[in-house]
Amino acid sequence: MRAERYKAVALEMATSIRAGDLPAGTRLPTHRELAHERGIALATATKVYRELAAAGLIVGEPGRGTFVRDLSGFAGMEPRRLPVDTRVADLSFNQPLAAEQGEHLRHALRDMACEGDLGSLLAQQPPGGRSTDTAAVATYLLDRGIDVPPHNVLLTAGAQHALDVILAATTTPGSTLVADELTYPGLKLLADSRCLDLAAVRCSPDGTDLKSLEKLARTRKISVVYVMPTVHNPLGFVLDAGRRQRLVTLARRHDFAIIEDATYAFLDPGSPAPIQTLAPERTFYVGSFSKNVATGLRAGYLVAPDPDRIRLIRALRTTTWGTSSLSTALVTRWLRDGSVTRLEKTRREDAKQRQAIARRAFQGFDYHAHPASYSGWIHLPSEIRSDQAAHRLAQDGILISTGDAFAVGSASPNAVRIALANPTIHELPRLLDRCRDALSTL
Ligand SMILES: Cc1ncc(COP(=O)(O)O)c(C=O)c1O
Repeated sequence: MRAERYKAVALEMATSIRAGDLPAGTRLPTHRELAHERGIALATATKVYRELAAAGLIVGEPGRGTFVRDLSGFAGMEPRRLPVDTRVADLSFNQPLAAEQGEHLRHALRDMACEGDLGSLLAQQPPGGRSTDTAAVATYLLDRGIDVPPHNVLLTAGAQHALDVILAATTTPGSTLVADELTYPGLKLLADSRCLDLAAVRCSPDGTDLKSLEKLARTRKISVVYVMPTVHNPLGFVLDAGRRQRLVTLARRHDFAIIEDATYAFLDPGSPAPIQTLAPERTFYVGSFSKNVATGLRAGYLVAPDPDRIRLIRALRTTTWGTSSLSTALVTRWLRDGSVTRLEKTRREDAKQRQAIARRAFQGFDYHAHPASYSGWIHLPSEIRSDQAAHRLAQDGILISTGDAFAVGSASPNAVRIALANPTIHELPRLLDRCRDALSTL
């Protein structure tokens, strides 16, 4: 009977947290107060909080109390959090876009209007894309050391779509998906919507802790491991060749698939060979044209092992069927005429400059980033609460992400991630100074 009581209270509180009735940062009653309010024993109140913490909904901070965690995932994708007229800058989500890209698009559309069979762009594309378009991506991937026939490349509506399609094809509800304890928030949303059991492996600014993965693999059946080996989001690390090889060895020994998310890989072309080249039989390589070209294109791709192709095509059919013909035609054109390569080079230089500005602004902070990455991760001292600092900045019209958005399971980093790509490079120093001030004041 008593066991049911603690579950009932935990469920009621979890529902209020998920519904936003208890917003992020809310200080919850002490264990003793909760026991008194609910007429339950102190030990039962403790069990309620343990249950909520294990579900990732609350965090206990020694000496300070128990708080509701920030579950929003992407602060920047929730416009309701910040009315347009008070919005100063979105440093919560990277959408790199150079001013001249609008003109570049105008020229491409004008040229396309005057040549070829425009009507074909109104026709439905086959799921996974036409062979001319997949061939353009396969050729582009040669520069990354990935040598696959166009047949193994499937076009998607961005990397997020690619991830969902891969999870649809490789998991069933309840399957274990493993990710770094700090990972890309979009993966958490997908795991939730597909009812997967998302498990965390330890990670640090040095990389994924493979000992922690090995321990996990010995205790439970893992279906898929998700990694970002080249320019990790949010920590910025690049896994060295040795760790990539060890991950593959573990995958073969314990028979799990690997998702290699290469969304930011263009920022470090000198990184070790992709995991896909080490284990093509079990690696799903995911790429995107969002960060190197433009987010609004909604264009991405995946490289898949042969036997999984049919299941992936079925998953593509059940989601968007195919990709937009017009976006795909633009991407193929820009791959063939060298625009993508040129944009990537410019973007690397741009990201390096922004990173240098950020390093200056956050001197003296526990700051982690790749030297050419578009974001920085700041670990805060315990007296500064990340959600309060983010809330203060939001009131000034500046959005940043709290560490909770990236945390898997019970990990609860007191940290923030600052995305550097959106403002102009001239605005950036002033905005980062405002962030620094907010992150330094109690
Ligand atoms: C690591 C990572 N993977 C995937 C995505 C999704 O990219 P897309 O816009 O191509 O769906 C993002 C977007 O921020 C990302 O950071």
